[in-house]
Amino acid sequence: MAKEKILITCALPYVNNIPHLGNIIQVLSADVFARYQKHTDNEVLYVCGTDEHGTTTETIAMREGLTPKEVCDKYYKIHKDIYEWFNVSFSHFGRTSTKYHHEITQDIFLKAYNNGYIIEKDLEQPFCGKCNKYLADRFVEGTCPNCGSHNARGDQCEDCSKVLDAKELLDPHCTICGGKTEIRSSKHLFVDLPKLSERLREWAEDKMNWSQNARNFTLGWLNEGLEPRCITRDLEWGVKVPLEGWEHKVFYVWFDACIGYISITAEYCALNGTDWRSWWKDPETKLYQFMGKDNVPFHTILFPASLMAADDGYILVHQLSSTEYLNYEGGAFSKSRNRGIFGTDVLNSKIPVDVWRYYIYINRPEKSDVDFTWEDFQKRNNEELVGNLGNFIYRAQTFAKKYYSGKVPEVEDQDADVAFNEEVYSTLAEIGQNIGSTKLKSGLKLAMKLSKMGNQFFQENEPWKNEERKANTVKTALNLCATLAVAIEPFMPVTSEKIWKGLNLKGDVHTLNWERARSPAFKGGESINSPEILFQKLEDKFINDLKDRYSGKKKQEAKDLIEYEDFAKCKFKVARIESAERVEGSKKLLRMMIDLGSEKRQLVAGLAEHYEPDEMVGKSIIVVANLKPAKLFGLESQGMLLAAEKGNKVRLLTIDGEIEPGAEIR
Ligand code: 2FM
Ligand code: ZN
Repeated sequence: MAKEKILITCALPYVNNIPHLGNIIQVLSADVFARYQKHTDNEVLYVCGTDEHGTTTETIAMREGLTPKEVCDKYYKIHKDIYEWFNVSFSHFGRTSTKYHHEITQDIFLKAYNNGYIIEKDLEQPFCGKCNKYLADRFVEGTCPNCGSHNARGDQCEDCSKVLDAKELLDPHCTICGGKTEIRSSKHLFVDLPKLSERLREWAEDKMNWSQNARNFTLGWLNEGLEPRCITRDLEWGVKVPLEGWEHKVFYVWFDACIGYISITAEYCALNGTDWRSWWKDPETKLYQFMGKDNVPFHTILFPASLMAADDGYILVHQLSSTEYLNYEGGAFSKSRNRGIFGTDVLNSKIPVDVWRYYIYINRPEKSDVDFTWEDFQKRNNEELVGNLGNFIYRAQTFAKKYYSGKVPEVEDQDADVAFNEEVYSTLAEIGQNIGSTKLKSGLKLAMKLSKMGNQFFQENEPWKNEERKANTVKTALNLCATLAVAIEPFMPVTSEKIWKGLNLKGDVHTLNWERARSPAFKGGESINSPEILFQKLEDKFINDLKDRYSGKKKQEAKDLIEYEDFAKCKFKVARIESAERVEGSKKLLRMMIDLGSEKRQLVAGLAEHYEPDEMVGKSIIVVANLKPAKLFGLESQGMLLAAEKGNKVRLLTIDGEIEPGAEIR
């Protein structure tokens, strides 16, 4: 087979979070493909790394009191450890904050600029004066113009689901500091996508090998007509715009993220003394890209458009494999709500890595969204891995041990099972074809079919009583075990190696050429090792504990914790009590008028059993000033004062010393 150059990428995960199973699918999808390619004569490079720029990194750094670099270093390690645990076979796992990345991004931009594909336009964005920062829409909150909810985010109102523009929010404020935001206009750079749209269409139209959803989305966008796309942001952290007068802007994260594939290759090649251009500027290289459906437009429009605009010999995506979403027990994964299984949970689950890998591949959401459920996880492990695969391998080795002293039997009729073997090897070839065309789930199903064929073969040939067929049956079964070790290697490399070593076979099962694996591994007479149990049953109690740990109790505890944004929503202010009186007909309530600096308000509070009205007057207290008014005893309370309560004692929180009413508490 001709040697091809196969360059593989999977979407670079955002550095600033712990990836959940749904994110890990991408890294693992590309891994099966890359592992499979290593069994061919092709030259393979699989690059990935963390996507480190963008508003979120800067915002998290502000919140955690770290520098953006410190945030990236911390999470880079978390990501790296998770993927190593999953045995992901990256050629290189890099990051986008390297010098290679900055240089190559700036170079591509300058070439596109000099070729006339970059235009300047005004852009209006929310700005927080207190933070002195432009904010991404989702970091602005305010009142929804549609439903009046006070918790609407600048990009969407979660209460009525309306998609918003931060400009539409009423009373907008910054989620970092709680300060008021305003809309400011500033100059930005845009890629002239309309100018590139015909070239994009010509290129995309014949990409029949992209996943259907990617093709449909892309042609849909091209048909709707493209708008110029803004590629700069007013941030500190990121790749600086290399133009005079633009030094204070950086590139929009999605402009530089995809260039990360190139810069990570460059770093890898520099470490190995080779030239990255031999991958990215050789028209013979085939680029395979794996991603979730939300990433598709950036890979089929913005990234190729940037490379076309640079006109510098870059290759474009050959095959794009995108998946739908993986959900968790009927809902979305959410770190803030602590819903779902995250990489660090998987590492602590005590479930072997190949069980996780198997479950992810067999459920890969290729055509529609898929739900992770613990019940299904348990069932697949117990029925498919234990009952089918583990059982077959164990039985074959046990028969060899029991009847042939741990040796592969020598047989008289070498051709007795030729038809069965043919089917095995043609199935192996079919598995390879499926993986090679990114139909990963079908590939794994076929591998499991091989194992099922093995179990049926035993049932039909009954080596425990059919003396005539015994030797051939055991030998053919052991050869099938070897084929299975090869067939599952891209999906379950640890199990594959265990089977291979258990059969006492020579050579490296991780790089063994699949063409050569299409002939029997054993001739007869070879010694094999004692059988080993490959998979353990997952018992109900164990699964229920995990379910509880990852979706029950933990969620409950997390519910008691609030995010910083939640806290920042409360506006605490100093108020002076100007008058106080008992509420007629109530034993508990006092009605007060307070001075809040810029306004006077009425408060109603349950203090009458603890303070005399006269004692209250003149006190400087703390109130939550942005609480929705509430009616108590028919009277509106326009805020809430803070007090400490223990048993039947209640004392007001007051200000120690002189400070003006209206002063904010932080
Ligand atoms: O969605 C994400 O997680 C992005 N960080 C993917 C980036 S893909 C590419 F541009 F690097
Ligand atoms: Zn702010």
